[in-house]
Amino acid sequence: MDRLHIRGGRPLIGEIAISGAKNAALPLMAASLLASAPLILENVPDLADIRTMTALLRELGMEVTREASGRLVLAGPPRQALAPYDIVRRMRASVLVLGPLLARLGEARVSLPGGCAIGTRPVDLHLKGLAELGAEIHLEGGYIIARSPKGLRGADIALPFPSVGATENILMAAVLAQGRTVIANAAREPEIGDLARCLNLMGAQIEGIGTDRLVIDGVSRLEGAIHRVIPDRIETGTYLCAAALTGGDLFLRGAEPGHLTALLKSLREAGVTIETVPGGLRVRREGRLVGVDVMTEPYPGFPTDMQAQFMTLMSVAEGAAMITETVFENRFMHVPELNRMGARINVHGASAIVRGVPELQGAPVMATDLRASVSLVLAGLAARGETIVNRVYHLDRGYERLEEKLAACGAAIERWREAA
Ligand code: UD1
Repeated sequence: MDRLHIRGGRPLIGEIAISGAKNAALPLMAASLLASAPLILENVPDLADIRTMTALLRELGMEVTREASGRLVLAGPPRQALAPYDIVRRMRASVLVLGPLLARLGEARVSLPGGCAIGTRPVDLHLKGLAELGAEIHLEGGYIIARSPKGLRGADIALPFPSVGATENILMAAVLAQGRTVIANAAREPEIGDLARCLNLMGAQIEGIGTDRLVIDGVSRLEGAIHRVIPDRIETGTYLCAAALTGGDLFLRGAEPGHLTALLKSLREAGVTIETVPGGLRVRREGRLVGVDVMTEPYPGFPTDMQAQFMTLMSVAEGAAMITETVFENRFMHVPELNRMGARINVHGASAIVRGVPELQGAPVMATDLRASVSLVLAGLAARGETIVNRVYHLDRGYERLEEKLAACGAAIERWREAA
């Protein structure tokens, strides 16, 4: 398995181009199942998760072609409704084909994604919402079997929790349902706005984009479209932390500050200088870092996908920081690894108390999920000595050309390839 070798202590200076958002691209790719003509997505990052979704869509009979410069052409129609375990187990977001398949083909058989490293993550809200649209759903042999022999009908759906995936699945089914659907307490993440805007471009009628109440008037068919994926706010946030940790100065080209309000506020409170400049964001840190408390929440709150990276930053800040995770249970697996690098972090239930130390020391570390892995890369960039990050495949799921982007700004980071 590949691993990363990092020699820490060098400030990151230069420019990093922000890639298209993985979590926007995945549902947009699933939405191609709904279109009667090719959907063309621009600015799609080249990542393992995108390749997994490509494999799944091909399995369903779609033609997916990647062109130079990150353009993805997705052409249907889907020819079969089975999303097999073998692909779904590789990536939970595979479940996003459920709503579109049901709406387009009247049936879907999708493997249950199962547990994962950051909690149990059930799909009950997805299934309940689709059932309210008239789908008949049961579980059989580890598969979700969904049918809508009489077609889907609009309904008033109130989500008990604003789940991102459930909102996306219900939205993609409702666009082709008969009549009006209202999703109350919908998730408001920018990736959902991106999906809704693309669906409208394809001919859907969705109102309330960006709010927690989506109103969808069903249409009988959707056309193709050309749509550009929004910049990745979590990749942006990760490089903001990297610049701050190393006392660097970075220009993040293409970053969208409007999607990062909560994170920017916390970073500025911690002593990081961030300016909106033409074409992106400039970040630098000259003075000391100070501890700031944060609590993860659904958007527009502090993103759970930035919790681990922010914790690395707080591990070298002056004073203490309390970091509370409210979105996922069990999302502190990076804590023991950071502590092995000299951090002083204690977990009490859903909160971690981080007592800042003057510096971290390099060590061999191992990560269990995407954002935890990158928090250890950040720690390695700031630490004295060498850090070896094992299980790099997690990073390849979500960070495009990570070591290339960091090395171009002065990081001493290298991938050691090993046969599996
Ligand atoms: C998406 C993101 C992920 C991010 C998360 C929260 C993608 C591909 N992934 O994941 O990176 O960390 O949003 O911002 O976009 N839940 C239920 N029942 C359900 C669905 C969810 O109980 O049917 C719970 C989950 O267990 C979790 C919480 O709701 O505790 C949030 O999950 P959700 O918003 O659905 O996240 P994902 O869509 O899986």
